[in-house]
Amino acid sequence: MSDDLSKSQRIEQIAVEIAICQRCHLHESRKNPVPGAGDYNARLVIVGEGPGAWEDEQGKPFVGRSGKLLDQIIEKHGVLKRSEIFITNVVKCRPPGNRTPMPEEIKMCKDHLIAQLNTIRPRAILCLGSTAAQTLSGQTSPLTRLRGRNLSGLKPAIVATYHPSYGLRMGEPVVKLMESDFALACSLALGA
Ligand code: URA
Repeated sequence: MSDDLSKSQRIEQIAVEIAICQRCHLHESRKNPVPGAGDYNARLVIVGEGPGAWEDEQGKPFVGRSGKLLDQIIEKHGVLKRSEIFITNVVKCRPPGNRTPMPEEIKMCKDHLIAQLNTIRPRAILCLGSTAAQTLSGQTSPLTRLRGRNLSGLKPAIVATYHPSYGLRMGEPVVKLMESDFALACSLALGA
């Protein structure tokens, strides 16, 4: 068995573990689990907060309005295609009404995220919003203080930026900062 095959099998296995997970209550109200999607060999992994209504319908991450903004940022930068990135969330089941996941839900779901990251072994992780940034960096500062730099002394690099839903609300000034954070994450992911 090649390394690649066992890696994709492991990611598929984690998706099954997510589908049958009952560690928190979120599985009771969701329509579909959203384990994540993209390249299992990605150098860059993007982590959002949790699935919204569109993602819950389709079982895929970032397919709604926030996903469209993320697509625009990826396409404008032009160095990586969305299909070359692995995209996932801190929690894999939709929190009712799109509320922020609770600390206990994040804690229960974190093993799935860490298992995905340990399998893919990206060079850089881009966190979208404070839930992902705080969960993965272990730092509690507000996002304005976390964004725009590498938060990890070790590998993988961890870069935080605003959540696309905030970019949609605030418009161009925030989207420009997101573009620059995305470019930093790509350069850490692809640089020598
Ligand atoms: N918001 C998120 O945080 N994740 C998604 O997948 C969609 C919207």
